[in-house]
Amino acid sequence: MCGIVGYLGVKDSIPIIIKGLKRLEYRGYDSAGVAVLDEGQLCTVKQAGKVKDLEAALIESPCSGRIGIAHTRWATHGEPNDVNAHPHVDQTGKIALIHNGIIENYNSLREVLKQQGVSFTSETDTEVLVQLISTIYQQDNLSFTMSVQAALQEVVGAYGIVAICADEPDTIVAARFGSPLVLGIGDGEYYIASDASPIVEYTRNVIYLDEGELVTITFTGYTIRKIAEDNIVTKEITRIDLSVEEIEKGAFPHFMLKEIYDQERTIKDTMRGRLLLSEGSAHLGGIQDYLPRIEKVRRFYITACGTSWHAGLIGKYILEEFANIPVHIEYASEFRYRKTILDGNTVVIAISQSGETADTLAAIRKAREQGALTMGICNVVGSSIARETDCGVYTHAGPEIGVASTKAFTAQVTVLLMLALLLGRRRGLSLDTGVALVNALDSIDQLVRHTLDQANKIKQVAKENQQADNFLYLGRGLNFPIALEGALKCKEISYIHAEGYPAAEMKHGPIALIDEKMPVVVIAPHDRTFDKIISNISEVKARQGRVIAITDKCCPELERISDFIIEVGEMHRIIFPIVATIPLQILAYHLAVYRGCNVDQPRNLAKSVTVE
Ligand code: AGP
Repeated sequence: MCGIVGYLGVKDSIPIIIKGLKRLEYRGYDSAGVAVLDEGQLCTVKQAGKVKDLEAALIESPCSGRIGIAHTRWATHGEPNDVNAHPHVDQTGKIALIHNGIIENYNSLREVLKQQGVSFTSETDTEVLVQLISTIYQQDNLSFTMSVQAALQEVVGAYGIVAICADEPDTIVAARFGSPLVLGIGDGEYYIASDASPIVEYTRNVIYLDEGELVTITFTGYTIRKIAEDNIVTKEITRIDLSVEEIEKGAFPHFMLKEIYDQERTIKDTMRGRLLLSEGSAHLGGIQDYLPRIEKVRRFYITACGTSWHAGLIGKYILEEFANIPVHIEYASEFRYRKTILDGNTVVIAISQSGETADTLAAIRKAREQGALTMGICNVVGSSIARETDCGVYTHAGPEIGVASTKAFTAQVTVLLMLALLLGRRRGLSLDTGVALVNALDSIDQLVRHTLDQANKIKQVAKENQQADNFLYLGRGLNFPIALEGALKCKEISYIHAEGYPAAEMKHGPIALIDEKMPVVVIAPHDRTFDKIISNISEVKARQGRVIAITDKCCPELERISDFIIEVGEMHRIIFPIVATIPLQILAYHLAVYRGCNVDQPRNLAKSVTVE
């Protein structure tokens, strides 16, 4: 996924679009570039590297103009280098284009254009699109807007694009199909970006472009039309409540660490106004109208990717336990292509922090086509999945900038707990059980605070295990998904190979890996499987494994067989998975820092995978 930002207004665009790129750099960061129109001249500066490298290049080769577009890239076609960086310019040198997505038929389009005499300088699908726009603009005597529209009608794939043309130096054209675009409306100034974070400090008035929409922006206003039908559409202006502080990292060295500490507040924010203590239930306004249908369905599917899938697995366990509903959990990339048997008696829940993950979006579209009721659990307001599902619940964790998901995950699990409680109480769950769960959820911030206070101890654990080449994470029941999540955090930011397993599964193979060099993180609360976990830990110790135990309270048995113990406090078993995640996030963070990794922008990753 890439970051896109554009500006048209009375100021020099360069400072605005560079600052905008920095706010979007979490979306992709292997190359970056800008293009501006200055008195009808197109000036482009682009290169491999980070936005700060681009800033340095702009000092060497300055350009300015009141219309500018900028891009930070996560490579899909063509390696990260200067030539493949965006913006791409057509062979006349008059049109510049930036793109987020994949043009799937770019090879066939490239061949047709080559036969028409077009020569290409890069390996990218994006260059094919800009050359196609240029060819149409030159041959068909269409306006720039109409040329972009005509070119997009030949394209197959996903795109969020922004383009400018030296022959129409008062215009920006942008369009989306599969990759998000937000139009910011200022006072005589306009912004276009992949999400609201580069816009919010200038204006809170935005329009979310929908699939297949194209916007033409000029100094006199904007016009939005459907690409396919060419009819003008009127769209509602939304006022966003994002604050600049929320997208800054403040005194923290990394966004990820800030977002880990945010959890003392964000988990409560997720529940704010939604817990019903006297009824032992929850109120989720975004699904209220659909409850009569939801509570009667025969089964649920949960579909997601990555960390969100881990939250979904916990959701399966708790919905089955408390609401007595059969739940299938599936990776969205599998769900979208296999033969699924859905109908009006199925609810399909899509969990997505960004609300833009391509596989999850495709899964939801398939579910709708097959008549299922779709529900989104998203963190980004106005995101595609949030808008394309029949109903849903926002997690209210605030913008999550660090590529490794932390506060969004605990917020997702919290929403799923509230959903299980709400549906459970309508399907026979007792008032007493419900009240106990609400009380447990309501007191969680104190437990989060206590866990965060263990950060230095966890940092020491990371220090003593930073040289490991492999980690194993073990858990049982609700804590098995937490083991998976802990392993994902570890591998995606410290690049240490890590695997999560059901603790009992260790004997069926992974135990062969255990030796004195293997740290094994075991999630070991005093629940009904504690004795089994103790046996699993003993099996690790017998093979000289290094045991890192995450528990609710220390005890002689654990102290005897563990090398490190992190105690998170006694609590209701149902909220233990949420709290136990936090030490694993902190452990992964410090492992990455000790190993000199880029915590907020881990190699090869992007914050939201809007391509397949
Ligand atoms: C999580 O740390 C990863 N960055 C990744 O697995 C992520 O959870 C996954 O790509 C799904 O993203 P989404 O929640 O925005 O759909």
